Amino acid sequence: MIPSFERAIERILFTEEQVQQRVNEVAAEISEKYRGRDLKLIGVLKGSIFFLTQLARAITIPVKIDFLAISSFSHKSGQGLVRIAKDLDDPIEGEDVVVVEDIVDTGFTIRYLMQTLAGRAPNSMALCTLLDRTSRRIVQVPVDYRCFEIGDHFVIGCGLDYKQHYRNLGYIAVMNPSLLEKS
Ligand code: IMP
Ligand code: MG
Repeated sequence: MIPSFERAIERILFTEEQVQQRVNEVAAEISEKYRGRDLKLIGVLKGSIFFLTQLARAITIPVKIDFLAISSFSHKSGQGLVRIAKDLDDPIEGEDVVVVEDIVDTGFTIRYLMQTLAGRAPNSMALCTLLDRTSRRIVQVPVDYRCFEIGDHFVIGCGLDYKQHYRNLGYIAVMNPSLLEKS
């Protein structure tokens, strides 16, 4: 049985209103920075879709969107093996792209992704993440836009999952640690 929201949540970290307000601020920064340019948002499936939608709707210039999906293995061993499981639909050569992530943790996923995309010769590339957990960073990645820095607890909601569930929570919550499988 999948625990209910009530059981799964230890406490709310950021309410829906706090998330919306912060996303609006970051959207305003991006709108300002890319005004007059042809911006493409690249969402990393599946975690980023809720954030990307909210961000895109708050951005006040026209944007294009595309998606890719990543699979990662053996994070635990500190290896950080990552591959593209579903690629973008279109090339990004010569384009101004902002990669949109749900969370940057160790940094393995996003470093691999940014390196791979950089090889496709975009005009510019930036990273925008809903959450940043710098305390667990293993590889350095420049984060251009971040909504919130968080501590070392596992979170769900606003696209973030535990075993594919809880992405549809409208706020960001700390997962009840007693339900997390030891690994
Ligand atoms: P990284 O390669 O360690 O930076 O891993 C980032 C990925 O791990 C994210 O895209 C998430 O899918 C997942 N992740 C890391 N921390 C959490 C969390 O607290 N809740 C849900 N997913 C997480
Ligand atoms: Mg993810």
